[in-house]
Amino acid sequence: MGRLDGRIAIVTGASRGIGRAIAVELAREGAKVALNYQSSEAMAQEVADEIRKAGGECMLAKANVADAEQARAMVKSVVQKWARLDIMVNNAGITRDKSIRKMTDQDWMDVIQTNLNAVFFCTTAAMQPMVEQKYGRIVNISSMNGQTCAFGQANYSASKGGIIAFTKTVALELARSGITVNVVAPGFTLTDMLAKVPEDVANQIKAKIPLGRFAAPEEIAKAVTFLAADGDYITGQQINVNGGAYM
Ligand SMILES: NC(=O)c1ccc[n+]([C@@H]2O[C@H](COP(=O)([O-])OP(=O)(O)OC[C@H]3O[C@@H](n4cnc5c(N)ncnc54)[C@H](OP(=O)(O)O)[C@@H]3O)[C@@H](O)[C@H]2O)c1
Repeated sequence: MGRLDGRIAIVTGASRGIGRAIAVELAREGAKVALNYQSSEAMAQEVADEIRKAGGECMLAKANVADAEQARAMVKSVVQKWARLDIMVNNAGITRDKSIRKMTDQDWMDVIQTNLNAVFFCTTAAMQPMVEQKYGRIVNISSMNGQTCAFGQANYSASKGGIIAFTKTVALELARSGITVNVVAPGFTLTDMLAKVPEDVANQIKAKIPLGRFAAPEEIAKAVTFLAADGDYITGQQINVNGGAYM
């Protein structure tokens, strides 16, 4: 028996990295999981194969969540297939790192659209069946860099800080409907996103992490699963999974 048997989940950005680990972990606990991705079809298929091989159930849910229509249609298609929605994990995210002197309007808008506006699109679509069911668990993936600063990440930090503020207000508004809304804020985690950081910079970052290493995606997934499975009296909160890098 899994802790999430009978639950229906959507994970955005589930083809790679942290989203992949979250999807696999939720499925391992018994949830049926919709794997959202934007373009990495083959990788999303690999995640689906891994879940099915372990006896889990899942579906692919391709959509650009930065597009309001696509995001909402994606959520609707999952609810149509499985007749309910219990867990919405807003994980998809991008970086366009540049110092503020070099950051273009496009760099700013791309990051805000994908990292913050998409969370609004998916949350407002997901909350409809959740309100009817009087049950829902929404987990938004922010970042340590939305809580503190990081050179070259004015757009990213604004989007991730925005997620935290958004989460608290939505948690307040949806509490009476049995819906909890929380943030998991990872520190530096071993994924393609971190691989974009030059090696010398990555080594400097690592040297400052009290636990002395980067996170594995599975360590972020455990916090998400905890909120989904055991977080019944937790709402409007942030769980920081950052090796002590921000206290
Ligand atoms: N890695 C870190 O150090 C770190 C630290 C703190 C927070 N985070 C946050 O954790 C989340 C996951 O990061 P990650 O490191 O796992 O990233 P990643 O390895 O770069 O993977 C990003 C995922 O997001 C998907 N995605 C991007 N834009 C999308 C869109 N418009 N619509 C649908 N899917 C989209 C990608 O899909 P495709 O494969 O189809 O492109 C991919 O599945 C992000 O929100 C990130 O900001 C990461």
